[in-house]
Amino acid sequence: MALYKTDMSPQKTAARALAYSRVQRRQFLTGKHIVIASRKCGDIRHLIDHGIKPSNIIACDVDYVARAMASRLGATLSPKNTIEETVRWAFQTYGKANIASINVDLCAGVEKGTEILADVFSTCEANKYKGAIFFTFFRPNRKGGMKGKDNIDYITTSVGIGDEYFAKNGLVFPYQSYTPNSVGSPMCMIAF
Ligand SMILES: C[S@@+](CC[C@H](N)C(=O)[O-])C[C@H]1O[C@@H](n2cnc3c(N)ncnc32)[C@H](O)[C@@H]1O
Repeated sequence: MALYKTDMSPQKTAARALAYSRVQRRQFLTGKHIVIASRKCGDIRHLIDHGIKPSNIIACDVDYVARAMASRLGATLSPKNTIEETVRWAFQTYGKANIASINVDLCAGVEKGTEILADVFSTCEANKYKGAIFFTFFRPNRKGGMKGKDNIDYITTSVGIGDEYFAKNGLVFPYQSYTPNSVGSPMCMIAF
């Protein structure tokens, strides 16, 4: 498991490795992986290091510098900048069966992030698949308000995942953000 120089958190690296390890091997190697690039391109580097052809990585980001970095690594740039639109475009272009994973690693805050996740979930009907769903956001709010478990309950309810489904397919990876003042953001990986 490589810890990239650009990754701020070893826990994030571990969470990512665990989540991708749950994609079925054949699907992992041949399917399309949708990621939010970021300037660090951590997910893209991880996938390339694990034998994924860069052209099978569909990258988007609202930040043009991040998109340029992803392109430099050979990833397929989505014609849409947001993850919500990219998932819609990829499902229409490649078909559901050819999507191996969707990694929604946002820095948009809990409420905005959950709204985006709900959009992604409704497009791909993620809660109807047998695949695993990883929530790696679990940052307790030290200033009061919602605790980590409350956040997970809020997110799963908002994206329409029932307790029974979550108990079977969901996994929460405790991940402490290193950003001291941030309230955190959901990080969710859907492994088909
Ligand atoms: C935490 S970083 C992603 C890190 C990346 N997964 C990695 O491993 O290197 C969050 C990124 O989300 C982007 N972003 C925020 N909202 C977005 C949206 N709705 N669609 C696409 N990108 C978004 C930001 O520009 C930022 O680059």
